[in-house]
Amino acid sequence: MRKKYICGNWKMNKTSSEALEFAKEINKFEFNKVDVLLAPSFVTLESLRKNLKDEIKVAGQNVSQFDEGAYTGEVSTSMLKDIGVEDVIIGHSERREKFLESDEIINAKVKKALEDDLSVILCLGESIEVKEEGREVDFVREELLNSLDGVKNIEKVTIAYEPIWAIGTGKTCSSEDAEKMCREIRNIIDEKYGEVSQKIRILYGGSVKPSNAGEILSKENIDGVLVGGASLKASDFIEIIKAGE
Ligand code: G3H
Repeated sequence: MRKKYICGNWKMNKTSSEALEFAKEINKFEFNKVDVLLAPSFVTLESLRKNLKDEIKVAGQNVSQFDEGAYTGEVSTSMLKDIGVEDVIIGHSERREKFLESDEIINAKVKKALEDDLSVILCLGESIEVKEEGREVDFVREELLNSLDGVKNIEKVTIAYEPIWAIGTGKTCSSEDAEKMCREIRNIIDEKYGEVSQKIRILYGGSVKPSNAGEILSKENIDGVLVGGASLKASDFIEIIKAGE
């Protein structure tokens, strides 16, 4: 039985003081059946981790594939670990599209994070053009296999399927289509890694909100959600957590 995983990705939103206001509100809410994680900006990570109750984890939204050195603007795995962060999102479509991160770069980041014992939320998903051509399964398969190339142990990997056309657009993928793709992803993992595929959590992301979270989370192969916009308001995020409880 895979425990549902409710993750919020704040992207480039919330100052540290706004994050603390959010923490005060969410700390009052009791939940016990799901895992919860928030990914704030790097500058907010440490204070948020200290101010959130222990049941809620914090994650980086990105990490460098390099150890240390002359990489202006980058954050290393050891910097994250040093402030108690154990999880990181890698391969978000905004990193791929706006910061030109290729599958090779994502693959190097996944390997580096796992080597340094971080848990990874690996994001995948097709564009509207790919979807309209009916190539979404092949596209996601390729992204998944390229991103995991040379990765031997995926126990610390969570997959987030996020169709790009559903991110921040209000257009949610139907729960049936999301389930179908998450099942495909599990089958691909099964072909490559065997029965560990039954333990790997696969999340859906893209315009998840309180009104659709319950339906999405009811699907057999959808083990959680990666929420952008609706994770910025504590009351909405709490409603989404409740939908997973
Ligand atoms: O990481 C989160 C996703 O990009 C989804 O964002 O919930 O605002 O559509 P959204």
